[in-house]
Amino acid sequence: MQLLHFFIVLLAIPAALVSAAVPSSKRFDLTKPSFDLFRNKKLKDATVQQSFTFDNTNRRLFVAQRRNGASTTSGDLTITQLDFNGNIKGHMYLKGFGHGVSIAAQPVGSTTYLWTEVDANSNGYGTKLARFKFSSGTTLSKTSSSLTKFAPISGATEYTAAIDPINSRLLVRYHKSGAKHFALYDLGAATKGNFSKPLASFAHPKGLKTKSSTFQGYAPYGRYLYLLYGDSYEAAPKGELNSELVTVDMNTGKVVQGPTLTKAGSTLKFREPEGLAVYRTAAGQTRLFMGFASGNSGDRRSNLFYKNATIS
Ligand SMILES: *[C@@H]1O[C@H](CO)[C@@H](O)[C@H](O)[C@H]1NC(C)=O
Ligand SMILES: *[C@@H]1O[C@H](CO)[C@@H](O)[C@H](O)[C@H]1NC(C)=O
Repeated sequence: MQLLHFFIVLLAIPAALVSAAVPSSKRFDLTKPSFDLFRNKKLKDATVQQSFTFDNTNRRLFVAQRRNGASTTSGDLTITQLDFNGNIKGHMYLKGFGHGVSIAAQPVGSTTYLWTEVDANSNGYGTKLARFKFSSGTTLSKTSSSLTKFAPISGATEYTAAIDPINSRLLVRYHKSGAKHFALYDLGAATKGNFSKPLASFAHPKGLKTKSSTFQGYAPYGRYLYLLYGDSYEAAPKGELNSELVTVDMNTGKVVQGPTLTKAGSTLKFREPEGLAVYRTAAGQTRLFMGFASGNSGDRRSNLFYKNATIS
């Protein structure tokens, strides 16, 4: 066994070097305060939001939630387009896609393409990635010819994706061999179906001492990945506030800050942490956005907050 371990270590070294290719960048300071974008906004449907993403070029916001009346395993999603005051600008229905753990918006001229999970399994999680044009008022089934599907990792069984809109990279999170992993790609290459050269490739960090084990979202920006954990007040033990952020260096797969408690929107009713995304304002301020679902069952609302202080 010892000899076997020795060879595994030797084999692991070149792989680790190859995957450490993400240029250095600033990172957000998780200990600094959060600010409101909006609170208690209605989405197209009344279920809790699951995730959100920005088309940073066309300055659009998209929020994913399970479709009203759909079962937890159907994979039926509603995508609502909002403006930055939280007004509904459009929506789309997706049938048989997945849970909506994370979605990514890709600007192409004045059009937005979305990357989502698709082909939900019996647990309601997507088994591939799909890329398609956001087209308000339409419904797409998982078999629609307007979808381009991707299964970038050999042997992976579930996929989601998030975007680094500042550096045009796509971060793919996938399930393989009983665990979650991440792989970071150039967005242009990924769009062509070229997943041959990940900039980084690492396991979802294990042994995080988060108060809650409920994973709620992720967002890459430059060299760093941000993770969100936590439960609603209803689901948390003793109704405590347990939402936390963690920063991971994608070149090493190691935690560099956190878990750090975030009290953003602490007075919200229900307050389930749901989604992370990065956005840069027209004035050049880069923000790490955190989403929360609020309100009553049957009338859940969307809330977005952001951190903007960085550590160089
Ligand atoms: C695939 O993308 C990588 C960058 O991610 C690039 O270096 C390589 O040339 C591309 N391969 C093809 C066949 O386009
Ligand atoms: C962060 O945003 C707040 C509120 O919009 C603003 O007052 C503050 O100056 C910003 N800080 C940085 C570092 O951009």
